[in-house]
Amino acid sequence: MPMLSAVHTICVNNKTPLQVSLEESMACGVGACLGCVVKGAGHTEEKPSYLCTCTVGPVFKSQYLDWHALGQNDNNCEGCA
Ligand code: FES
Repeated sequence: MPMLSAVHTICVNNKTPLQVSLEESMACGVGACLGCVVKGAGHTEEKPSYLCTCTVGPVFKSQYLDWHALGQNDNNCEGCA
């Protein structure tokens, strides 16, 4: 997700709206299994914010996403270099 994160940063710095389309593994596709959740902007342990990619997305306004958490997901990907 580094490229999308970089584009998000550029758009924020230039006050340009951005929407991104995310790909997540989806089992049910109706918001029941929570297998496709991503962390929303402002997510903390005390105040969790999760977004279902299948029901709320897959297209999100970039300011609604936790880009730091999305970057961490890439680090756990066994197939990624
Ligand atoms: S795929 Fe099951 S909640 Fe999104």
